[in-house]
Formats: sequence, structure tokens, C-alpha cells
Amino acid sequence: MKNIVILISGSGSNMAAIIRAAQREHWLERLGARVAAVISNRPDAPGMAQAQGVAREVVDHRDFATREEFDAALQHAVDSYSPSLVLLAGFMRILTPNFVRHYEGRLINIHPSLLPAFTGLNTHQRALDTGCKVAGATVHRVTPELDHGEILAQAVVPIVVGDTAATLAARVLTQEHLIYPQVIAQLLQTATL
Ligand code: GAR
Repeated sequence: MKNIVILISGSGSNMAAIIRAAQREHWLERLGARVAAVISNRPDAPGMAQAQGVAREVVDHRDFATREEFDAALQHAVDSYSPSLVLLAGFMRILTPNFVRHYEGRLINIHPSLLPAFTGLNTHQRALDTGCKVAGATVHRVTPELDHGEILAQAVVPIVVGDTAATLAARVLTQEHLIYPQVIAQLLQTATL
């Protein structure tokens, strides 16, 4: 059985979408995989309450003096599940190159923009401020450079008159919930994980 570990920081709706998909028709089980654990860097992450039926852990970044120490503790927690895939799902910490290299080929992120446009934060407001007519989300491999790495899937949504960052984020999020499980299935079917 291939283990998947999901890292979250906030509401965890992408994580919940993956777990829901996994429970529907034993989707992941048929691909020989399971969500083994959800790990949050925030004890108060609302998403933790939704991580039903899987192991839950908190590695609180505030307990560590440096980014390196936090990443070492996180790596220790993640590795205890021997993961074939590590999914960043609204995980809002920049990861050190050592951490990223350790999971090379099995570390995936979802980002709320059409990369390479709008890396980093406040993607929806920046898309609106730029006058973009479309926005979207990208699932990509994680490399040491923030929000770079091979693009695995993208979803495009229209920007409509009257959109705010919040309305656009909600429209994009519904698409994120579709493309992230699709990419996981593709990777499990095609990659040597
Ligand atoms: C999602 O929109 C995700 O793409 C974004 O945070 C949100 C998390 O929502 N990720 C990033 O901005 C990473 N840089 P969720 O916690 O409900 O899945």
C-alpha cells in the first residue's frame, strides 16, 4: 500500500476533497494507496477537524528556533509514514532545500494561480489588479525555488465583473478540489513511486 501524507496550515478543503474522493468508491484503495496522515504546522488549523479516519499530527513551527529545525522535525514526522507522495494542500510554510530534495519526485503542491504568473501570496488580488480576464490554479512538483517546478495540471476560471479576491478564490477553489485528486490518480498510475 502506498502511503500519502498531506500537509496543511488552514481550512484544509483540498485535503478534505482528497479524503472524500478516496472514500468514494474506494478510489485510492483501487490505486493501491491511502491517505496515511494529515500533518499541520498550526494546532488550530480548522482543517484538522475534517481529517476524519486518518492519523493527525501537529508539528508547530513556533516550537522551533530555526526553519531548519522545524523542517527536520517535520521530515521526521512525515517519514514515520514512509510516504510515496507528500502533498502540500494550503501548507503555508516555505520549505528548506534539504527538505525539498529529500522528497524529490514525490512532493507536490497546489497553488492558486496560473503559474508561472503570480507566485507567492495574494494571488487573486494581484490577478484582479493586473486586469486578468482569467485566473486559476496549478498543481506542480515542488523544487527548492518557490512555486516553480514541473506543472502537472492547471484549471482556468473566468474573472467576472464585480469579482473580489474572495469571490475569485472561491471559484478557483472548486476547481482545485477537482484537479488535485486527478493529478494524484495520474501519478499513482504512471509514476514509479
Ligand atoms: C488553496 O487555495 C491553495 O491553493 C492555497 O491555499 C488555499 C488553501 O485552501 N495555497 C497556497 O497559497 C500555497 N502557496 P485549503 O486549506 O482549503 O485547501
